[in-house]
Amino acid sequence: EEGLHATKYPWVHEQFTKTFDHQALRRGFQVYREVCSSCHSLSRVPYRAFVGQTHTVDEMKTMAEENEFDTEPNDEGEIEKRPGKLSDYMPPPYKNDEASRAANNGALPPDLSLMVKARHGGCNYIFSLLTGYPEEPPAGATVASGLNFNPYFPGTGIAMARVLYDGLVEYEDGTPATTSQMAKDVVEFLNWAAEPEMDQRKKMGVATVTITSVLLALSIWVKRYKWAPIK
Ligand code: HEM
Repeated sequence: EEGLHATKYPWVHEQFTKTFDHQALRRGFQVYREVCSSCHSLSRVPYRAFVGQTHTVDEMKTMAEENEFDTEPNDEGEIEKRPGKLSDYMPPPYKNDEASRAANNGALPPDLSLMVKARHGGCNYIFSLLTGYPEEPPAGATVASGLNFNPYFPGTGIAMARVLYDGLVEYEDGTPATTSQMAKDVVEFLNWAAEPEMDQRKKMGVATVTITSVLLALSIWVKRYKWAPIK
């Protein structure tokens, strides 16, 4: 059984000449931290990746220090605890898959680092999924116990319940935290997590097209100039 096809949204950051909205990334990271991170890891993104993208170096150092990590074993083989550093990765919510399944009714919340690239439909799919839980399943729909009805999830029965509700987080920039605003911000943020080099790539692309156009125009002019006396 296929899920409902996701609505196509006009994501600004997907346009060829547009970069990510870094204010949105900062809000999306807040949604990840305050909502998603209690079940989903983001194992491929170190604290340092946020510096200059969503946060300052001091903000990220402080955030890293809020978690403890194991030291390398010393000469006696003892492992101790140390505060986090910029080079550390955000700790996962559960110790292992077994603990993760135990806490989620047998289902495994997947790592979100590459989710935008991994799922068909990317941003549109995840946005539709997060905002697509109806209050009640439609008449006639069967939902297995422990699952939630979501028409966008392949199979329509998903172990993750609706997580976003209006006003769930309080944005520091004053943006009203509606369900769709939070979904949009966290999806854009997850796109950045999966493709942190996108801004750089697009800037290079625009520069390449610009320089190539100038060179082409120049070569046409030179050609005409050289051939003019012969005509
Ligand atoms: C699955 C996103 C919060 C538990 C998923 C999937 C995505 C996702 C994209 C994969 C769906 C698929 O396989 O196609 C998010 C985001 C969250 C969030 C962006 C925060 C805004 C949570 C929370 C929990 C949770 C707080 C636990 C209380 C799960 C579980 C699955 C899942 C158990 C597996 C579902 C299944 O395979 O049936 N989530 N999630 N998620 N999520 Fe979340």
